Amino acid sequence: MHVEHLSLKNFRNAVDSEIEFSKGVNVICGANAAGKTNILEAIFYFAAGKSFRNCKDRELITFGNDKGSIAMRFFGNNAKTKMSATLSKSGRRVIKIGESAPLRMTEYIGRFRAVIFTPDHLSLVKGSPENRRRFLDLAISQSFPRYASTLSEYNRVLAQKNALLKRGNVIDELLEVYNEKLAALAGTITVNRRKYINRLEREAKIFLADMSGGKEELTLSYQTQAGDLETQEEIKEKYISLFAEKMQYEKDHFLAHYGAHKDDFSVVINKKSARMYGSQGQQRSAVLALKLAEGELSAKLTGEYPVFLLDDILSELDKDRKEYILSRITDRQVIITGCESEIFDTEGKIFVREGKIFQ
Ligand SMILES: Nc1ncnc2c1ncn2[C@@H]1O[C@H](COP(=O)(O)OP(=O)(O)O)[C@@H](O)[C@H]1O
Ligand SMILES: [Mg+2]
Repeated sequence: MHVEHLSLKNFRNAVDSEIEFSKGVNVICGANAAGKTNILEAIFYFAAGKSFRNCKDRELITFGNDKGSIAMRFFGNNAKTKMSATLSKSGRRVIKIGESAPLRMTEYIGRFRAVIFTPDHLSLVKGSPENRRRFLDLAISQSFPRYASTLSEYNRVLAQKNALLKRGNVIDELLEVYNEKLAALAGTITVNRRKYINRLEREAKIFLADMSGGKEELTLSYQTQAGDLETQEEIKEKYISLFAEKMQYEKDHFLAHYGAHKDDFSVVINKKSARMYGSQGQQRSAVLALKLAEGELSAKLTGEYPVFLLDDILSELDKDRKEYILSRITDRQVIITGCESEIFDTEGKIFVREGKIFQ
């Protein structure tokens, strides 16, 4: 899969930009705050349906404007596809494939796939569970679009349940209806996440062993309130009884404290938690292994490598890790920000200055 063309109108500091990409390595060069990350953000928007910087759509529109848009042409699944997103301050954003009617997230997710590496990905090991769930959910969704719709249904029911709890004066029968739905959806979500984690572990283990000269063994352990139960049905039943048991507690606290939205996984190196005991270097390697594994798995599951987006990570890495990662991603499209001209002197460079493109 590779991006061919990107067109930005009033997106961040890109007022009107057209960018061509080559199939191999693309390097985006420019000074600090020139607009390099903004370009990756626009591309990744089509993979995730939102910014990877975890911000609102309206923050993406160029200051002082009401509308912005991104259009991208990419090659993948044996065809050229054009996707566009129109963002507006007041209304809803509209995503289209070709000239189609506006699509819902679950209808376009998985069409364009990308893996992004950013300097704050250390939070995958060190940060809160939310970081890891977000990573997991997005990775699974890109390869299994139906997971995205299960997850959005779960979040919708969870929001309804929370609204009910917040109101106080709860009608038990209604709460039970929500709990029943959440339990069933949590069963599906947990089974999918655990299966993905197992596959991811298999891939990431190889990368970390490789990077550490066989010294480090990576394992991932998935944590859920459903314990070690394995089948969808068992997990559903477990949640139904857990929700019943904790009903009063949730009512007293006006919040849904139990469910799949509390899941987490820990990254373990040589049988010890990387978060608690890993050195900075081990944590960094573990994150690289996870992200490389995400790409590998995506290729295995869909038959095609996703586009690799590297935001400023090379300048952060030591020589060995830098060389390792670059040696692992030679056979696919890579779009890198940060001018590391000594490494890349052949491929097409894209220069950015104050949001403007010079190619
Ligand atoms: N909504 C926006 N409208 C206009 N400019 C923006 C907007 N959001 C961010 N910027 C500008 O974009 C620039 C940062 O771009 P970024 O891609 O993060 O830079 P870098 O090249 O360092 O990666 C800053 O100059 C910032 O002011
Ligand atoms: Mg940047």
